[in-house]
Amino acid sequence: MPPEPTQDWSSEEVDISKPNVARIYDYLLGGYHNFEADRRLAEQMLQVFPDAKVNSFINRAFLHRAVRFMAEQGIRQFLDIGAGIPTMKNTHEVAAEIIPDTRVVYTDIDSIAIAHSKAILRDNPNVDAFWADAADVEVILDHPITKRLIDFSQPVGILLISVVHYITDDEKAARLIDKLKAAMSPGSCMAITHSTLEGYQTESTEEADRLLKLAASARHRTRAEIKQFFDGLEIVPPGVVFSQLWRPDTDEIPFENQPWRAVGYSGVGRKV
Ligand SMILES: C[S@@+](CC[C@H](N)C(=O)[O-])C[C@H]1O[C@@H](n2cnc3c(N)ncnc32)[C@H](O)[C@@H]1O
Repeated sequence: MPPEPTQDWSSEEVDISKPNVARIYDYLLGGYHNFEADRRLAEQMLQVFPDAKVNSFINRAFLHRAVRFMAEQGIRQFLDIGAGIPTMKNTHEVAAEIIPDTRVVYTDIDSIAIAHSKAILRDNPNVDAFWADAADVEVILDHPITKRLIDFSQPVGILLISVVHYITDDEKAARLIDKLKAAMSPGSCMAITHSTLEGYQTESTEEADRLLKLAASARHRTRAEIKQFFDGLEIVPPGVVFSQLWRPDTDEIPFENQPWRAVGYSGVGRKV
């Protein structure tokens, strides 16, 4: 179950009349940190593209498997960029099941996500969150919270789960990833989930996309484009695949026979 709202999860700077991707995603996952405008747009999207709900769970489940994989490799510090609203088991909780004193830094461009993260993490010295636009990668790398919790001379797990497609400018997206790869020491891993319409460009995906644009512009990329983000890293098997097919941990794989319905590719790269 997603966490119940904390008292201080909202933020005065936020225009709640405007739908927002972090809160639409929270709603699709069954969370409580969303407003009328978010719920309305999410329901409109579900009307034209009912897969959106399952896709949110596919996305979140990949995050969990990727974090578990990295923790099993001995990674004990994570930088989760575009982490979203804390919901349905978060990076620090998954990692702590394997390595209890794991350190995690969350960043997001949504101040509600950060307000709620800060509220639930208040008593956890190993985990913290701050607001940042992922396109400003230096701000993230140089932030005092990153400097306090992440030691880049040691392996780090970098998570870019369903966020890079919101950086529609190809150069900015590549720059973000290149700077992060440069900061990673050997043994570090980077996980990416990225939206795609490859194999699935239909009227309903296009209509859902048009609706999503009311909250944020996204650039869907092809597998070849997404694979390029891993250049310079060793891609962990099975490679860059539809998200539900990346090391599944259950026999019940959503859309197993029509994997493109996940509308997202996922992969993990390791720096050697
Ligand atoms: C679909 S949610 C994914 C959340 C989480 N990573 C997950 O996979 O469960 C996308 C998140 O990316 C954030 N986001 C969008 N554009 C961003 C940007 N330029 N910088 C940082 N975060 C961004 C949104 O606010 C939202 O929380």
